[in-house]
Amino acid sequence: MSQLIGVPRETFAGEKRVATVPEVVEKLKKLGFRVMVEAGAGDAANFADDTYVAAGAQIAPDAAALWSTADIVFKARPPSADEVALMREGTTLVSFIWPAQNPDLMQKLAARKVTVLAIDALPRMLSRAQKMDALTSMAGISGYRAVIEAANAFGRFFNGQITAAGKVPPAKVFIAGAGVAGLAAIGTAANLGAIVRANDTRAEVADQVKSLGGEFVKVDYEEEGSGGGGYAKVMSEGFQKAQREMYAKQAAEADIIITTALIPGKPAPKLITADMVKTMKPGSVIVDMAGEQGGNCELTVPGEAVVRHGVTIVGYTDLVSRLAKQSSTLYATNLFRLAEELCKTKDGVINVNMEDDAIRGLTVIKDGTVTWPAPPITLPAPPPKPAAAAMPAAKSGGHGAGGEPMSAGSLAAVFGVGAALFLLVGLYAPAAFLGHFTVFVLACFVGYMVVWNVTPSLHTPLMSVTNAISSIIAIGALVQIAPPESGGGRPDEIIRWVAIVGIALTTINMFGGFAVTRRMLAMFRK
Ligand code: NAI
Repeated sequence: MSQLIGVPRETFAGEKRVATVPEVVEKLKKLGFRVMVEAGAGDAANFADDTYVAAGAQIAPDAAALWSTADIVFKARPPSADEVALMREGTTLVSFIWPAQNPDLMQKLAARKVTVLAIDALPRMLSRAQKMDALTSMAGISGYRAVIEAANAFGRFFNGQITAAGKVPPAKVFIAGAGVAGLAAIGTAANLGAIVRANDTRAEVADQVKSLGGEFVKVDYEEEGSGGGGYAKVMSEGFQKAQREMYAKQAAEADIIITTALIPGKPAPKLITADMVKTMKPGSVIVDMAGEQGGNCELTVPGEAVVRHGVTIVGYTDLVSRLAKQSSTLYATNLFRLAEELCKTKDGVINVNMEDDAIRGLTVIKDGTVTWPAPPITLPAPPPKPAAAAMPAAKSGGHGAGGEPMSAGSLAAVFGVGAALFLLVGLYAPAAFLGHFTVFVLACFVGYMVVWNVTPSLHTPLMSVTNAISSIIAIGALVQIAPPESGGGRPDEIIRWVAIVGIALTTINMFGGFAVTRRMLAMFRK
């Protein structure tokens, strides 16, 4: 007999999500499950009961009817004490649980002899787990919504505009913390046309910030902020002091600050002090996403929007519920992907396979026994990077054909030929020529080394190299341009004019290189 998945109405105050949507009901039925939804469960997210019925679900008249018949329960918020009391032995609950923060709830659930899969305990480092990663899908939505809330409270456009009525500068948005929510906020604010800056203690996110249209602002203090697994660690006192100075500067300049900084299992770091709020322009906005963990701003009131020193501080803790239809759809899809993993046989019966790393990580209670925390997962060592070996060769790529370093044999041959050439010149050419020839060969060698060791900082390494050559030409020409000490003669005049023309041409080449680079980069900027 296939199992029944039950979806109750969320009872937490202000929670508007529902753990499945009609479109996903159809997919769950294809896996062989039966689906039951509590009457009115989808109302707040704009999914009416009859749309569930049309998709093939049954409707339970109330929570008691649902919890007493369902074999598997899908939920969004952790269950309340009343809901735990309704659970029957042997049920499997799939929901956000936060086992570290809710030890009492864990004890109560274990006492009901149920199995609990905490969606927040998913081992996110497994690439196979990404499709089930509800933390990521919810954080993405809340980052987007944080920008919308900021725009709502802000009295100006985000993008700069020139209208008949005057010029409007673009809004300056500063994002503290570039995790999932922070990156979503950066992308949204940049798309609305704001100038976006962001900071994170993990330096590795700088490229992601840039790729979404933001500018990464570094703290002037060397310390690695990664605590492993893509999460941050608590930083040293020295770093925090330097960070406060940088944030104070950003706060004075920014119109909007969105804070998303989080260290798992720790209170939210206090990044925006009351003094910083005082320096912000009147009408500025702070959206503090970390309200539930105590807030990243000292003046945040969790769950509310308040005005302090002329700045609106939004501390809403229900950002995902404010986009209930979207978040319910994504969450339902994450749970469907989990159902697929649990029911590979597609016969409507789940198998909580504790040998499977992803399922093991999620399972916090198995048949009444607490199995949280799961043992750490040892990921296979990444294959050795071929790039590391290829790097020196690539660097010498411009030097010799094929980019291969010269073998000792061919090096000896080159030197041999060179020495023979010198011997010939020394034997047969006039003595003055030998002196000039030696200077010429050495100049070629030094020039070659100088040019090829220039660090490419322009659009392409080739442009950088041609600019280096141009610079050497300019230096050479400048040396020649000085008035001749001999009092001036015809040949020196000619050399001066050749040098002047050389400088003019090489200047065109150099500044042209910068201009082309700027235009190319502008194509990628908004
Ligand atoms: P995440 O763990 O992916 O990102 C947090 C980021 O903060 C990390 O990149 C971390 O390196 C950075 N960070 C930590 N300490 C920092 C410091 N001192 N300075 C600068 N950066 C620092 O977390 P995610 O999923 O992006 O969530 C962000 C926050 O949003 C969390 O507090 C989460 O609870 C909250 N949230 C709030 C919602 C709401 O309705 N208000 C809804 C969903 C998430």
